[in-house]
Amino acid sequence: MCGIVGYLGEQEACAILLHGLRELEYRGYDSAGVALLEASGLRCFKAVGKLDNLAAKLGDTASSGKVAAIGHTRWATHGKPTEANAHPHGLTHSQVVHNGIIENYVALRASVATAFLSQTDSEVIVHLFEKHLAAQPPAADTALAAFRATLDALHGAYAILLISETAPGQIFFARQGSPLQFGLGAEGCFFASSDAPLIGHCAQAVYLQDGHWGVAEATGVRLFDAEGAAVLPQPAALPATSLAARKEGYRYFMEKEIYEQPQVLTDILTGRLAADCLSLDELAPEWLRPLRSITLCACGTSYHAALVGSYLLERLAQVPTKVEIASEFRYREPVLDRDGLFVVLSQSGETADTLEAIKLAKAQGLATLALCNVDNSSIVREADHRLLLRAGIEKGVASTKAFSAQVLTLWLLALYWGQAKAVLSGERLAQELAALRQAPSVMQVQPGVHERLHRLSKRYLHGHGFFFIGRDLFYPLALEGALKLKEISYLHAEGYPAGEMKHGPIALADAQLFTIALMARSCLYDKIKSNVEELSARDATIIAITTEYFELADDIIQIRAYDHPMLEFFEMLVVVQLLAMEIAIRLGNDVDMPRNLAKSVTVE
Ligand code: M6R
Repeated sequence: MCGIVGYLGEQEACAILLHGLRELEYRGYDSAGVALLEASGLRCFKAVGKLDNLAAKLGDTASSGKVAAIGHTRWATHGKPTEANAHPHGLTHSQVVHNGIIENYVALRASVATAFLSQTDSEVIVHLFEKHLAAQPPAADTALAAFRATLDALHGAYAILLISETAPGQIFFARQGSPLQFGLGAEGCFFASSDAPLIGHCAQAVYLQDGHWGVAEATGVRLFDAEGAAVLPQPAALPATSLAARKEGYRYFMEKEIYEQPQVLTDILTGRLAADCLSLDELAPEWLRPLRSITLCACGTSYHAALVGSYLLERLAQVPTKVEIASEFRYREPVLDRDGLFVVLSQSGETADTLEAIKLAKAQGLATLALCNVDNSSIVREADHRLLLRAGIEKGVASTKAFSAQVLTLWLLALYWGQAKAVLSGERLAQELAALRQAPSVMQVQPGVHERLHRLSKRYLHGHGFFFIGRDLFYPLALEGALKLKEISYLHAEGYPAGEMKHGPIALADAQLFTIALMARSCLYDKIKSNVEELSARDATIIAITTEYFELADDIIQIRAYDHPMLEFFEMLVVVQLLAMEIAIRLGNDVDMPRNLAKSVTVE
């Protein structure tokens, strides 16, 4: 998602910042900007689109002498990708860059008298800073005190760099829930939201902890904790190359993206959950209420998320829901409910079949909504309304974090709709909110489980096929598990509803048929148990993913017990993703770029 860089020193800062921002390009962005604070004053440059546009704006601009400089790549969440919404955001004598979400920005905006130039949550930070600065009696650390007072008012997640003409030669910084680090090199002090921009400038970095804040200046860095006590910086060695740094220690982008899922889920929930209700600012309840049905339409992994959504929407919002594969939908002359909502799901926003499907639905007069990870993509531009997924750029061709983001967003949508229609009891809503809050921690990869999957994977590199089976919500998860495995291992795998096996596929059962059984304790456990017993009786090899001991399993992958099926779902999702990845790695395949596949399928 967004990227941050900063530099304090005497080298030419534009080149340093642009280089740093280019190192963060892989994260995805739709606008960029830099601000330079020199003896002559403060200058700011911003551009929509690629960094080349920013470089063109900068032209032959170069900093001279001592400089405090900050830069940012923005991936739109609040407000469109425009120059006004790009960072840095400034007021009269200060500029700020911010990653994260300021949850209480609406209330904070109302608390300052100044006018706003952008639609972002971030701009309020610089307004607050200047307000507190004006209220401080002049003293040596006035700006530092104003910065601290600003942080005290913020709720949400942030990594912040701020510079001000009132504090030449200083960069103020803070971290709460969004990564930020700094390194001291021969040429000065360097900041970044991940390792890559620091490599080549510093040998070590100080990784800020949540609540850490402070100021960088010519004499060094003063670092404080949330209570204001001084903290001794603890530097750690940086990776040797920036490619390794981009993978942040993981072997593949896919692995990194699997491990990022708790943060993605946290980002999706940020600002949307209150004590006894939830909000989706993007969709007005009065817009949703009259809609009589939903059609969800997508391809591949996004289609599997749509299937999960159909269970949730019917159960929680009591809206009749259909799911369509986009490539089939286009040509089958569908009869659509003109009083219904047509929802497309897409990670990339550029999938040709899905794009054509939404055009068709629009042409027939249906209200349209896009659940998409890329703002300003073709599908987002086509839709009447959008819910952005907040998953950050996904590099692995095999989709992982975009899927969990789609599922969580559909769960939120189902609950929000149910709340709008008042079909959920207070008790049920409270249970759902509690489960939602728990979801990010459930997706945290447990080292023991990953290690077990790594060891187990060596037994499953052959055979004549895999069947992933599940019931209810776990049937689409079975489909997704099978798709992940076939995409990157090139082994034959199918997802099947467990109850359907006896209607045909059970004929394949023998010791070389590997059955991955998704045996959720919280959802039809006894039903799937008897389905698995039928397969075991025919000598199929059973790998059970379950909370229970199951004597017929050849291998058990034990998961933690939850009383909400969605929590079991998210925990099992991590297991099937990692299992596919470990098998593919053992087979020597390129996990991030599997053969024959493209990340974005822009042809039909
Ligand atoms: O970008 P989209 O979500 O529209 O892409 C749809 C499919 O092409 C995509 O999910 C594909 O199946 C992935 N390779 C799954 O890992």
